[in-house]
Amino acid sequence: MPSPERRYLSEAQHARDPQLAAFIEAIHGVLDSSSSVVETLAAVSEQVRGFLPHWRLPDARYLARQPGKRYGSYLLYRAADTRFVIVIDTFDAGQTSQIHNHRTWAVVGLIEGTERNRIYLPARALDAPPQLLDEYVTRPGEVFALQETQMHQLQTAEDALSVSFHVYGADVGTIQRLRWDEASAAYREFRQGWSNDVVDLPVYLDGPVLSEIELRRQCVGYLQGAD
Ligand SMILES: [Fe+2]
Repeated sequence: MPSPERRYLSEAQHARDPQLAAFIEAIHGVLDSSSSVVETLAAVSEQVRGFLPHWRLPDARYLARQPGKRYGSYLLYRAADTRFVIVIDTFDAGQTSQIHNHRTWAVVGLIEGTERNRIYLPARALDAPPQLLDEYVTRPGEVFALQETQMHQLQTAEDALSVSFHVYGADVGTIQRLRWDEASAAYREFRQGWSNDVVDLPVYLDGPVLSEIELRRQCVGYLQGAD
């Protein structure tokens, strides 16, 4: 466990959003003490369930879609060693994402709207379409977890945008990931990026500034068809 005086954010960042700062410290504590991914997913899910009902987005710009896109994906926090990140995603009503993986564990909680999530397992040799494993409809306050080996596809309800809160076990905006491309029936690599810079939203960092600054300029390759 981290020492009680350990702070992962600057004093200014703490002061700006003490609830988020306490949540970040709790997730570091979970990762320090967890002995398995199963344990991590259960404990992070519990933290997200406890946190979301009492937290308000610190800035209305997290609700913005990236100009010209039907979504925004904002890096809210990145740990210095990138062992986890926190992300806010906003999707327009009636959108369907590509089936994609994260190459790490994920815990997702809904803040606003309704999302249908289909969970898939990719073919071991990437020579066949992903196989549907499960499907959840999530509403505000509800949380689900994904294993590193899984892929998923999210679909927003026809009549409302969705806002979701994510904790991932790596910086999923900068690493190479896989998506299933329906048109060519093949798995394709992509790097997602983040929408932060296009709406001038800062990232809470407890380490050096992002080395891959260009990835904060736009988030790409998320929705089915031309996005
Ligand atoms: Fe995802």
